[in-house]
Amino acid sequence: MREKSLLDKLPEIIRSSKTEYEQTAAGSYTTIERNRWTGNILAHSDNVPFMKYLIQIGMSGKLQLIYADPPFFSEAAYDATVRPADGISMKQLAYEDKWGKSEEEYLKTICTSLWGMKELLSDEGSIWLHLDWHIVHYMKIIMDEIFGRENFVNEIIWQYKSGGSSRRHFARKHDTLLFYGKTKDYYLDIPKEKSYNRGLKPYNFKDVAEYEDEHGWYTLVNMRDVWPVDMVGRTAAERTGYATQKPEKLISLIVNSCSRKGDICADFFCGSGTLPAVCGKLERRFMACDKGSLAVGMTKKRLLADDSAFEFKVRDEKGKDDQRLKIEFVESGGYCDLRIKEYRPDPAIIKLNKKDQQILEESLAQDPLCLIDNWSIDLEYDGKVHKNSMSFTRGKDGMETYYNGEFKGSISVIVRDIFGGESQWTY
Ligand SMILES: C[S@@+](CC[C@H](N)C(=O)[O-])C[C@H]1O[C@@H](n2cnc3c(N)ncnc32)[C@H](O)[C@@H]1O
Repeated sequence: MREKSLLDKLPEIIRSSKTEYEQTAAGSYTTIERNRWTGNILAHSDNVPFMKYLIQIGMSGKLQLIYADPPFFSEAAYDATVRPADGISMKQLAYEDKWGKSEEEYLKTICTSLWGMKELLSDEGSIWLHLDWHIVHYMKIIMDEIFGRENFVNEIIWQYKSGGSSRRHFARKHDTLLFYGKTKDYYLDIPKEKSYNRGLKPYNFKDVAEYEDEHGWYTLVNMRDVWPVDMVGRTAAERTGYATQKPEKLISLIVNSCSRKGDICADFFCGSGTLPAVCGKLERRFMACDKGSLAVGMTKKRLLADDSAFEFKVRDEKGKDDQRLKIEFVESGGYCDLRIKEYRPDPAIIKLNKKDQQILEESLAQDPLCLIDNWSIDLEYDGKVHKNSMSFTRGKDGMETYYNGEFKGSISVIVRDIFGGESQWTY
């Protein structure tokens, strides 16, 4: 008998992923950090238990937009550049997109998450699934099944210039974003784009507004489905070092088109946090998670740099190991002197190659605190949630590792390292 093809297996993949989704229990989470106003959530978690938790707290049908940028079935590993000191860089493994060459395994996993996304979307909401040539053709069929063929809106082509080429195929220079509404009433505000006149000359048609720039004459038309947007450049301010970071410009186009100020947008594969960062800038609320500690560490750093509001949740079973952070603390008469004396990252999260391990040891010998990327203090710690009163980030001239000032009776310090790990000290 002929072995079943992947196409034959799709109905079973969809059915079993639904069962898997239904049988996954909601995770339980503790908020361990909060920056300003709460409501935006960043969680360090696998996405299905996190979505189940959101449903449990009444978020079903409340999300306006979901941007999903999962692994692409590339069978590759992705790293991120981390820096223990100015001028020194190392590659840390960020996540693996490896499935033992089993499309079935991949499709089942992504499908399981899609069921949760469907439940969370509002009737006016939409989902954007970002993929490329590796698997998008199968995922389009699955999206038709889960979200309904009638709710398909667009296939957006994100066109870029970066990356390599080959003698064996045309250079692959685009990703595909599948855009589906939850219902036919999805919200959409299409931006305008320039459409240059033939010959770049004015047409002078009656009642058509025409404009001129350095290239020639153009009219403004509703944006089309091919979006030329540059990848994040090497020296761009937004660059995090995460290998698969997407440009804020691309995500802003999606957020602006499919949500309004105050709406809740979500990204359950948030990586280095492009969607949460964009939401902070465009005054949207957000729900985000990633299962990688480096990813959530980078997202948090980005949100803190913009002073965006968020609360950070971790799964309860993770437990805390605060033995890695040593602080010298003296208080008297309403003042205190606090110094970070020692910080050791959790060895379980360091994934470096031999050469970078050597660099790490040399950097540590020069400066034992060099792995701290940023840290913050809560001067009114309530014993539960760390609220950032002030934070310190490593810059070109290093970083302060002490605090000398007011003491209000309790204090919490969270130190975050370049690998996305963190440790808390409280008094
Ligand atoms: C392509 S990256 C996202 C990049 C992101 N859009 C950005 O701009 O940085 C995919 C992410 O999905 C995460 N991921 C994969 N499976 C996951 C799961 N089941 N739950 C949560 N995160 C997951 C990976 O850790 C990785 O960070």
